[in-house]
Amino acid sequence: MARPIDTAAWRALQSHYEKVKGVELRQLFAEDPRRGETFIAEGAGLYLDFSKNRITAETLGLLVQLAQECGVPERRDAMFRGEKINITEQRAVLHVALRAPKGVQIKVDGRDVVPEVHGVLEKMAGFSDRVRSGEWKGHTGQRIRNVINVGIGGSYLGPEMAYDALRTFTDRSMNFRFVANVDGAAFAEATHDLNAAETLFILSSKTFTTLETMTNAATARRWVVDTLKSDAAIAKHFVAVSTNDAEVRKFGIDTANMFGFWDWVGGRYSMDSAIGLSTMIAIGPQNYRELLAGFRAMDEHFCSAPLAKNLPVLTGLLTVWYNNFFGAQTVGVMPYSDNLRRFPAYLQQLQMESNGKHVDLDGRKVGMQTGPVIWGEPGTDGQHSFYQLIHQGTKLIPCDLIGFCHALSPSKEQHDLLMSNVFAQAEALAFGKTPQELKAEGSPDFQTPFRVCEGNRPTNVILVDRLTPHALGALVALYEHNVFTQGTIWNIDSFDQWGVELGKVLAKRIIPELESQSEPDLRHDSSTNALIKRYRRLRGH
Ligand code: F6P
Repeated sequence: MARPIDTAAWRALQSHYEKVKGVELRQLFAEDPRRGETFIAEGAGLYLDFSKNRITAETLGLLVQLAQECGVPERRDAMFRGEKINITEQRAVLHVALRAPKGVQIKVDGRDVVPEVHGVLEKMAGFSDRVRSGEWKGHTGQRIRNVINVGIGGSYLGPEMAYDALRTFTDRSMNFRFVANVDGAAFAEATHDLNAAETLFILSSKTFTTLETMTNAATARRWVVDTLKSDAAIAKHFVAVSTNDAEVRKFGIDTANMFGFWDWVGGRYSMDSAIGLSTMIAIGPQNYRELLAGFRAMDEHFCSAPLAKNLPVLTGLLTVWYNNFFGAQTVGVMPYSDNLRRFPAYLQQLQMESNGKHVDLDGRKVGMQTGPVIWGEPGTDGQHSFYQLIHQGTKLIPCDLIGFCHALSPSKEQHDLLMSNVFAQAEALAFGKTPQELKAEGSPDFQTPFRVCEGNRPTNVILVDRLTPHALGALVALYEHNVFTQGTIWNIDSFDQWGVELGKVLAKRIIPELESQSEPDLRHDSSTNALIKRYRRLRGH
């Protein structure tokens, strides 16, 4: 595939950027009074207003041309066909098969995977129903009231985010908790007020070898066995979600209580696989099906909408525009929904583990900026902490503001208040406040320079009817395919994560050096040696 910088579109965008970099959103809106109605796109129930971006119709045309020249449609189709587009791991990338309807055929190595996907979904639904109805009992015959997902990264962030997002759809008579960190405090906090006899652990790990998860799983097993005074309790208090039957068996879980998935589902793309078991128990199988339908609706939009009206393609291209032409380093994602509090953290893994890459698909240095730093907090909280820097700081921070037309809470007035902030922030960021306007408002001259808001700060506003399972699925799939679009433009492998391995290997080497009763023979650099020595001394070794 062509390197993006070798395409005609990239060269054209470079000279186009020189022409438009100083253009103000004020001017663009003044020149085209209908801009706010035309620079929009809709799909899968989501409305995207991208008019407050520093683009013209020509920019949009060139960005779409870039997507075409970089082969976004072809690579997308290759992904949906089950081709091994994760080339460094020689794997298909088929999270889209997780929400494919029955009857659709998607083949990996000649085998249709869709029936297997539905087989696991049915097994999950049967189990969820039994837990929710109380038919599945703990070892002492008590009903399960607490579900704890033990997992990290993609085996944690999606389930926790989805649980928070869909709280209003959950069974409120049950507790759902999530343990990820190897810091023992995480497990202790999650269990301190719970009765082991009423607690079910879902051990979620694609590999079933991840240090944090296996450590917390062992702690959980000890807690259950010690409290219930029987090894036999494991059968009723532990289920596993994994691709690794052998390790699950070794842990002592009957594979009848294991929910499988496949190597063609990347960890950060797995919240709608069996990794979503806690979500399904929380919201019930029917709502879970709605969640999958939302994902699927966005998949269909991604595959069928013209590129210039395609939400994931547009948002992906806009990120490339700011990242590679304006030199923006970050993207802010601000959901105006308290229930989406964990959405930015979820997106951090999705985007930064996918597109934080320094070589292209041919193993050459990419020679350009790739994945931006993703960050964010829910509105309106963020407005009272870091928005100042977005409004008046020296850095360009494109932001996605996500809002919902209907509240899930009973208070309509509060919802209007919340949403007024979405619209106001996008307006303020785009148009700011000029010295003339301040003067006309009577601002004292000495204050005027400090009060000026330059504006011209870009935003996407994503407007959704209400935060339902369907909407959440569509929203997540929007970002999955947005990441895909960016990665395809940069010609990188968005589906491997070699960078996280080195730290894991080094930590394994250091563990015995921290635990050893005798003075270890430290052979690190002088800084690491000194830190380990100090830690040992303070720990009393
Ligand atoms: O360390 C990174 C990572 O491999 C992620 O990609 C993954 O989501 C996470 O660890 C957890 O992995 P597993 O599900 O195999 O425990």
